Amino acid sequence: MAEQKQKKQSYKIAWLPGDGIGIEVLEAAKIVLDKLNLKAEYIHGDIGWDFWCKEGDAFPKRTIDLLNSVDAAMFGAITSKPVKAAEAELIPELKGKGLIYRSPIVRMRQLFDLYICLRPTKAYPGNPLNFKDNIDIVMFRENTEDLYSGVEFNSVPKELSDVLAKLSKPFDKFKNLKETEYSISCKINTQQGTERIIRAAYDYAKKFGRKKVTIVHKANVVRATDGLFLEIGKEVAKDYPGVQFDEANVDAMTMWLLKNPNNYDVLVAPNLYGDIISDLCAQMVGGLGFGCSGNIGEKLAVFEPTHGSAPKYSGLYKVNPIATILAAKMMLDWLGETEKAVALEKAVADVIKEGKARTYDMGGTSKTLDIANAVAEKLLFK
Ligand code: IPM
Ligand code: MG
Repeated sequence: MAEQKQKKQSYKIAWLPGDGIGIEVLEAAKIVLDKLNLKAEYIHGDIGWDFWCKEGDAFPKRTIDLLNSVDAAMFGAITSKPVKAAEAELIPELKGKGLIYRSPIVRMRQLFDLYICLRPTKAYPGNPLNFKDNIDIVMFRENTEDLYSGVEFNSVPKELSDVLAKLSKPFDKFKNLKETEYSISCKINTQQGTERIIRAAYDYAKKFGRKKVTIVHKANVVRATDGLFLEIGKEVAKDYPGVQFDEANVDAMTMWLLKNPNNYDVLVAPNLYGDIISDLCAQMVGGLGFGCSGNIGEKLAVFEPTHGSAPKYSGLYKVNPIATILAAKMMLDWLGETEKAVALEKAVADVIKEGKARTYDMGGTSKTLDIANAVAEKLLFK
């Protein structure tokens, strides 16, 4: 797996709050990182909806340059709207430019080849939102390919429709459609991209003594791409005799996960299934307030809560920052700051167990920063 970094004297960390509640939850994460006395320079980076509206780019070049110069990044949340060219025309600054909004986080993952999307979900004891006790599932989601390839056509070019009509029998039925009467989104999965995410999952399982890796796919129908995922999974598994091999169709997986989440350990999935299943896992341990995520490549890693920018809560300081605090814990792990990571997770677990500081989603009245301060109080780091 992308190697964990060597611990350093001090770090450069890009700080990307983004939009809406992203700003508030990163403020909470900063409180705990400061209390841990992490020696770091936090450098603000512009990202998000506002920059798209003002500059036609939600992920400006200066932020890309910043990410090229740091050890790691913390990212809050961004507004990702499926804006069509026609809607962009209604924004005065963008009129006439023919721009289409693409999610900056997806671009970032691809641009920096952050191919591992690591999503742990743990049922911390005492969390009233836990679906069952002892859930401890780690998702390895492929993060750069698949249906997120970005190769899409709202209006299918003639060259492509001709090729499809020639090569694919079932496609005959679309032959008489006009180019604007159908759309194509390409699911593109490479052998190399598939193998490295599956190896990352197995390496992790081996390193942390996890018993089983489950390959999630839909190879019975999506034969080419998911077939590849399953076949490579079977091959890679042979190199890890100490880890149990398991595989499941993604639809069945949703049922079995709900029926018996304790049966699952490490999951590995192509991008879209990983996106969907990781939300299901997060819900079983408390919902979006608990879903944390690391986008990890060989050189850079970007940590984030998996929730969005929640515009309706923006500025109210009422959302649960635990997902972001746990993302900061993942960053500490990646930086090699294991002692601080362990201490932070314990502090979060203690606050959850105690049940005194709870945001509205957990049935309490605490505000975002109250949780961060409660966690910070448990940290005795000098
Ligand atoms: C996630 C999110 C993103 C994704 C969105 C915001 C583009 O749902 O990180 O899971 O689909 O990957
Ligand atoms: Mg998602």
